[in-house]
Amino acid sequence: MRLPKAGTIEIAPSVLAADFAKLGQEIAEVQSAGVKMVHLDVMDGHFVPNLTIGPPVIASIRKTTDLVFDAHLMISEPEKYIESFVKAGVDNITFHIEVTDDPIAIVDKLHNMGCSAGICLNPETPVEAIEPVAKYFDMVLVMTVHPGFGGQKFISEAAKKIIKVREIVGPDIRVEVDGGIDKNTAPTVVSYGADTLVAGNAIFGQKDRKAAINAIERTYR
Ligand code: DX5
Ligand code: ZN
Repeated sequence: MRLPKAGTIEIAPSVLAADFAKLGQEIAEVQSAGVKMVHLDVMDGHFVPNLTIGPPVIASIRKTTDLVFDAHLMISEPEKYIESFVKAGVDNITFHIEVTDDPIAIVDKLHNMGCSAGICLNPETPVEAIEPVAKYFDMVLVMTVHPGFGGQKFISEAAKKIIKVREIVGPDIRVEVDGGIDKNTAPTVVSYGADTLVAGNAIFGQKDRKAAINAIERTYR
């Protein structure tokens, strides 16, 4: 369970916007810029209309870095696959509330395997959907775009849910935000209570990744 302890603001670059032909190098570059975690977007072509990476790719990049691997499973039936992802070396698994009737069973399984657990809300899913279970998790992820693709426009209305999520979970659980985060939107979501900022295009879409990370950090430091 290696998610950084709550209380600091962390940037989690999303490799979805990286060059997949040189993933190891791309991750090394953001690691040298000082980030503690990377965000790995897993899509199944079923829960979302796109496909990305799975356990074999993750197992390969695991050998190249000790950064925290924050896996975001945009898949149906996550319970079928979590063990493979843990074996591949992820540290945190976030799955969607929309795909399961028994999130507690999955969170228990993850904790028993030594993996931390996050629960994710789509932009149109109300905070009430996670309210009864949020306290069992290590992180709550608020989507500020419709999952499936990088580079989409930030949905301000969805971001406002962060305020209520933070009220519910208190200071000890991470609140992550994903979709359209850049130097313009970061200060807003931090003011709402987010402490874990996923950014794809705003980092890997830029030539100088260190400068891109610093530019986001400067907006809330
Ligand atoms: C979208 C993914 C995001 C994506 C964010 O479905 O969950 O993690 O990579 O990309 P940007 O930061 O470009 O919106
Ligand atoms: Zn994501």
